[in-house]
Amino acid sequence: MSRLIVVSNRVTAPTNQPAGGQGGLSVALAEALREYGGIWFGWSGERTLEFTGHIDMQRTGGITTATIDLEEQDVEEYYNGYANKTLWPLFHYRIDLTEYDRNFDAGYARVNQRFADTLVPIIEPDDIIWVHDYHLIPLAGELRKRGVTNRIGFFLHIPWPPSRLLATLPRHEALVETLFDYDLVGFQTTEWRESFRDHLLRETDAVEGEGGSITAFGKTIATGAFPIGIDAQSFMEAADSPEALVIRKRMAESINGRQMIVGVDRLDYSKGLEERFLGYERFLADNPERSEEVFLLQVAPPTRGDIGSYQEIRSKLDTLSGRINGAYAEFDWVPIRYVNRGYPRHELAAIYRTARIGLVTPLRDGMNLVAKEYVAAQDPANPGVLILSRFAGASLQLTDALLINPYSQEEIADAIKQGLDMPLPERKRRWEAMIDGVVNDDVVKWRTDFVEALEAVPERID
Ligand code: G6P
Repeated sequence: MSRLIVVSNRVTAPTNQPAGGQGGLSVALAEALREYGGIWFGWSGERTLEFTGHIDMQRTGGITTATIDLEEQDVEEYYNGYANKTLWPLFHYRIDLTEYDRNFDAGYARVNQRFADTLVPIIEPDDIIWVHDYHLIPLAGELRKRGVTNRIGFFLHIPWPPSRLLATLPRHEALVETLFDYDLVGFQTTEWRESFRDHLLRETDAVEGEGGSITAFGKTIATGAFPIGIDAQSFMEAADSPEALVIRKRMAESINGRQMIVGVDRLDYSKGLEERFLGYERFLADNPERSEEVFLLQVAPPTRGDIGSYQEIRSKLDTLSGRINGAYAEFDWVPIRYVNRGYPRHELAAIYRTARIGLVTPLRDGMNLVAKEYVAAQDPANPGVLILSRFAGASLQLTDALLINPYSQEEIADAIKQGLDMPLPERKRRWEAMIDGVVNDDVVKWRTDFVEALEAVPERID
């Protein structure tokens, strides 16, 4: 049987940390690696003065991780630069925040070459290679240049932008062409896959084949939509665990009979946090008689703090939450509890379970797993209401959520009111319509479907 080599910018393999600190993706990929045997390869997160190429191999939680350190300039130009100042904003439709800089291009190419140089000696002939996300688009091309003929799949966790936006990226042709060095390119939803296809049909002489295959640049690749899921079963169990019960009890005391609205997001401008706070403020302003019945708990762990646009959104949210609290708070109530840290899984599950409304309002999101986690954590006898942005990939699956346009403060405010007033039978009906999909289309199905599709791709002939 083939081994699986997973490659991603960060390696978040299970460590010997206490249970509960790990994301679903890491658990699911680790499980796949245990099943197939294999290696998880990526950046250690460490910065050194000079790149050494040294691979740190570790056996942890039943799987092997192989990590490399990157030098300061690599981190600046590849991670902070091309990945997160160019591709991330552009692919989230924010050309206003996108920076185009030749040094970023060079750093991105260099780090992908360094990944390839260090990875090649580890690869065995039967290995299947699965590359993740926008940091590593050129990796297959670099591996092919070094003679690797193994099957290589790519999965994009974020949206694929519309063609007209992508056209603003200098040398976008080369970036797109290098995806044809993979055997399979997977997207979160059909919408992003279609954007990719439309771009190829507009800008190249691409031809579409059967079952999602596309031929361009003299090469044929398979493409498909593989919506990522959560480890739903374990998340449901987490909400009922003894540790979660302790948290739920603490929350119930602190809530003091009020209704909680919850938001949980990395502190990223794509998550629509500013619009969310303003929409919630609109609810407070429109419904003064009801405002003290509720509060918003916004959990927002900071991320990518070296980057100006992240520093800006952080300071905007500091100001906005402070202004709203200052304007509306009472001596025994604050409208927004704003927390800049993350919580372990069982605590999050307990928070979701306690919240009457899950408020998920990204301006653009590849999928959004918080929406699925919120659904999984609910009490079937008394489920809460999910308010979800139409612009999250998850909205294509969770169609029984209250779907809103996150740019509209009115829609957010009205949906909050509707969620607070929603009678139990409707809450149950909507939740029941969503939970089966969350449980069945879980993260195990996602990775099984992807790996099987990659194994099914015909041998390359080039
Ligand atoms: C998004 C990306 C992932 C990334 C994660 C955390 O979900 O799609 O590739 O790992 O954000 O971002 P960070 O920059 O902190 O690794």
